[in-house]
Amino acid sequence: MQSKYDVTGIVNVDDYPIHEKDNPARASLIERCQSELKENLYCAIPNFIRADALKAMAAEAQSLRPEAYDNNSRRNCYLQRQGDSSLPDNHARNHLESTSTRMIAYDQIPDSSPLKAFYHSDAVRGAIAEIVGCDELFDNEDPYQPANYVCYEDGDQSSWHFDADNSFTVTLMVQAADVGGNFEMSPKSRTDDDQNYDHVAQVLHGVRNDTIVSVGREPGALCIFRGCNALHRVSPVKGDAMRIMGVFVYEREPGVLGDQEVNETIYGDRVAIA
Ligand SMILES: [Fe+2]
Repeated sequence: MQSKYDVTGIVNVDDYPIHEKDNPARASLIERCQSELKENLYCAIPNFIRADALKAMAAEAQSLRPEAYDNNSRRNCYLQRQGDSSLPDNHARNHLESTSTRMIAYDQIPDSSPLKAFYHSDAVRGAIAEIVGCDELFDNEDPYQPANYVCYEDGDQSSWHFDADNSFTVTLMVQAADVGGNFEMSPKSRTDDDQNYDHVAQVLHGVRNDTIVSVGREPGALCIFRGCNALHRVSPVKGDAMRIMGVFVYEREPGVLGDQEVNETIYGDRVAIA
C-alpha cells in the first residue's frame, strides 16, 4: 500500500521548506547544517517533524514492539566483542560495555508508514545529500536496513562506539525516554590518521566528560553525524516511556545491500538464510 503521507504532511515545512528548491529558508538551513557538520561532525535540526506525524510514528513503533528483535551484546567502542589481551587492561580496546536495543527492521514496518514516506521522500534525500556534500544519494536496498525503529526500554543503552562506516548517519528522535536515553557524543575523538587511544580511553573511563555534548534529545529532532570519528552512545534509559528513534541509511551509489552477517547480528535468526 502506498503511503498516505506526503512530505509536507510529515516535515515541518513551515519552518523548513525542504521541498522548495529556491526557498531562501531552505538554503540557510542547508548552509547552517553543512557548516556545523564540518565543524562539529554533527548537526541537529530541532522540531523537524510535524507533531501528528511524530505521534503516528510513535504509535506504530509501539504496536510493532512485540515483533522487535532484542539485540543484546557486550562490545568495545570498535564494535568488537572481545578485547586484546596483548594490550593493558585500561586500553580503549579492553573497555567492554553492554548494549541492548529493540530493533524493528524495514521489512516489519508497513509500506504505508510515515517513517518510510519520510525516508523515501525526494525532498528529504535531496536535503541530506546537500548537507553531507554528495551530488546525489540513493536509498539502501537491503530488505532490513534502510529505515528502522530502534527502541530502548528501561535499562537499555547503546554503549560508546564509533560507527564502522566512514560516511554519515541519520537519526530521528521519535519519542524520548522519561529519564536518560541521551544521545551523547565526544565529537572529535579520533581522526582518519590517528586512533587517539589515550583520549578515547579517557572518555570511556569518564575522565573527559568535558568533551561530551548531548544532541537532539527533543522529539522531532533530526540528527546527521559522522559517527566514524565521533565517539557516541545512548545513555541508559530509565522509566516506563520507550525511547524510540528512527534510523535511516542512505548510499552514495544505487543498489547497495547490507552485509548478511551484520544483519543476523542486528536483526536475529529470522533473517538468516536457510
Ligand atoms: Fe552509532
